[in-house]
Amino acid sequence: MKYQDIISSMTIEEKAAFLSGKGEWETRNFDKLGIPSIFCSDGPHGIRKQAGAGDHLGLNASLPATCFPTAATIANSWNEELGETLGETLGEEAMAEGVNVLLGPGLNIKRSPLCGRNFEYFSEDPYLAGKMAASYVRGIQSKGVYACPKHFAVNSQELRRMAMNSVVDERTLREIYLTGFEIAVKEGKAKTIMSAYNEVNGVYANENKHLLKDILRDEWGFDGIVITDWGASNDHALGVAAGSNLEMPNPGLDSARELIAAVESGKISIEDVDARVDELLDAVITLSVKAKGRPEDFDKNAHHAVARRAATESTILLKNEDKILPLKSGAKVAIIGDFAFVPRYQGAGSSLVNPTKVETVAELAGSYDLQIVGMSRGYSRNGKEDAATKKEALDLAARADIVLFFFGLNEDSESEGMDRTHMRIPQNQIELLQELGQVNANLVGVISAGSAIEMPWHHYFKALLHCYLNGQAGAGAVLDILTGKANPSGKLSETIPRRLEDTPAYRYYPSRQRTSEYRESLYVGYRYYDTADIPVLYPFGFGLSYTSFEYSDISVNEDGVSFTIKNTGDVDGAEVAQMYVGLPNGKVFRPEKELKGFAKVFLKAGEIKTVTIPFDDKTFRYFNVKTNKWEIEDGKYQIMVGSSSANILLTGDVLKGETTEVMPYVKEELGAYYSGKIENVSDAEFEKLLGRPIPDGKWSGELSSNDAICQMYYAKSGLARLAYNILTKKKKKADESGVPDLNILFIYNMPFRAMAKMTAGAVSMEMVDGIVKLVNGHFFGGLGTIIGGFIRNSKKNKAYEAKIKG
Ligand code: BGC
Repeated sequence: MKYQDIISSMTIEEKAAFLSGKGEWETRNFDKLGIPSIFCSDGPHGIRKQAGAGDHLGLNASLPATCFPTAATIANSWNEELGETLGETLGEEAMAEGVNVLLGPGLNIKRSPLCGRNFEYFSEDPYLAGKMAASYVRGIQSKGVYACPKHFAVNSQELRRMAMNSVVDERTLREIYLTGFEIAVKEGKAKTIMSAYNEVNGVYANENKHLLKDILRDEWGFDGIVITDWGASNDHALGVAAGSNLEMPNPGLDSARELIAAVESGKISIEDVDARVDELLDAVITLSVKAKGRPEDFDKNAHHAVARRAATESTILLKNEDKILPLKSGAKVAIIGDFAFVPRYQGAGSSLVNPTKVETVAELAGSYDLQIVGMSRGYSRNGKEDAATKKEALDLAARADIVLFFFGLNEDSESEGMDRTHMRIPQNQIELLQELGQVNANLVGVISAGSAIEMPWHHYFKALLHCYLNGQAGAGAVLDILTGKANPSGKLSETIPRRLEDTPAYRYYPSRQRTSEYRESLYVGYRYYDTADIPVLYPFGFGLSYTSFEYSDISVNEDGVSFTIKNTGDVDGAEVAQMYVGLPNGKVFRPEKELKGFAKVFLKAGEIKTVTIPFDDKTFRYFNVKTNKWEIEDGKYQIMVGSSSANILLTGDVLKGETTEVMPYVKEELGAYYSGKIENVSDAEFEKLLGRPIPDGKWSGELSSNDAICQMYYAKSGLARLAYNILTKKKKKADESGVPDLNILFIYNMPFRAMAKMTAGAVSMEMVDGIVKLVNGHFFGGLGTIIGGFIRNSKKNKAYEAKIKG
């Protein structure tokens, strides 16, 4: 052990207390042992360091920081160099604000467009997500701050996120849900990782030895620290034994006592505790040294400029009929839509940044060479009809040559803590759009939305820009693109399906029971649409430019693929070339094609470049559930190069020999998976895929400390059901107001045990047991346990504090 000398002078009480947080964001310091404390902060696209008292979801404002585009946006740039620059900029701000661990990037897979947190995640594809995450990690860590990729793993649903079991077969787990993390760890060299709230195949992510030990530490060689998501620890002792270091945020000393009791009873060994303490000491000491003499400020303007570049490179041009864009100089335009005045540039929840400034289209448009006939908000944000504003907008539209319409998802549509129930934008925006279409045929739409939306109205527009959530400098980026000052080069990092019903997990998401069954297996996003032949509106990898590119001269060898791209238009531009790999008629089922490489290439008008995309250890592999290893099937692999998943322009092939003769599946038993038609997978077939019975996820009997508060609907106690009704009413009221109440959402979805895990020692697990008894209708027994537990907890806390003082 690296810090044997410190460890041997620590008491068991000190060791156990060290392995959980001191407050909302800090680790415990032990001054007499020379152990400092380190500070963690959200979040993925800007620093959310709270100046005053810390709270979980940002009731207290945080210090001003640059609000960069969110991960869903940046992934559309397909530019790792940009990701690294962003990471460096984030790292600099973290350092300036005294933050040692930056809680991001988030890279969970967009299993369904409905996940409320998709705006914080990169992609539906693990390779793209992993590459982008690794670039952030490299950038952040180059500045002396540790990055914390999250949420490890299989955390693709917000509803009851802390009380849910993701049931997924081993191959899907490896190929879809872990590959991104593998890249972030191996290529990004991430030094911390955040364990997710959910269970994975019946074991909480934070105590899942298969995830944390076998895969993360043993296979991938992770040598950093595992931090629990806030309140994600269930059994701290099992977590420590599995390889989790730090329980956050502030469970008080009850958790430390649990750890000591586990060592004393032989449930876990002292060696496990020492190993976790050693790893955590390494992080705490290294980070404190790196932060010595740190700058206490950062260049706000320079960082704003980085945010603007990032927004520009991530904007996607979805359509452009009659070359209506870029706007000609002096074009006579009307600017319509509330988003032009109050931009929607970030999402809600723990990632909410207090921006250093926010630019708006309404303020900046005047400085461009445009003849603006007027600006109108057009619709109101609360979804209600506003006749006067609508009329104002329609009058303006009638007087303009071109209408620029700014619209999309409102604040209440997507947020941490809730999933969407549909993919539509508010009806009042659609109604205005239809009327605008009656008075002006030249509509240009500018969408702000952090996730995929249904666009049955897209034919109203001649041109459409999708900006996702583009950060505080987004307005300038949009105007640069509209006017041709910048050439769009973003490409979709997720598919835009035609309708929710077409999405692969439609019948399985979100889980209504304790278990979320990943029946669609590998068929996530384009992997499904391509294989099952489901038409989509805009495919994965798609995006237009103001110039055109020609691909030619493919050559494939053992090491990779080379080809040339020519910019055949008359403006400079960048193209994202994508390499997909497939094995037609393979013996092991697989999607028709999978992304295995990409390159963003900048080309001057008329320029030609040779592009090489190398193969790597992921190009041909699949996870064999019989050999329990990555294997390669023999055959003639198709190497497909294209400008999107649906537009393959060059193909070649390469022969590979097999690494095993052991076949993982019997084809006849897995018809749905071999055809890709996974919309209605039967229990029998899913069981075959899982290789074990499907766990029973039904809610029944008494509630336990791991059930979510919203499950009090089933409570035997009338008092608990009353509390449930009050909470539900509050939630409904907040939902209707248009601004989700994050704390209510958090409480609604959290399990009872979180009361002990997040209250700085005020509540112990014994008291939680009392509360659960009460909820289950054992009023007096429950009350007795709560009161007795309270007295015992206070006494034990005092005694423990005395032991670790100094
Ligand atoms: C979120 C994490 C976040 C943490 C701290 C949790 O609720 O899931 O992503 O880093 O809170 O704010």
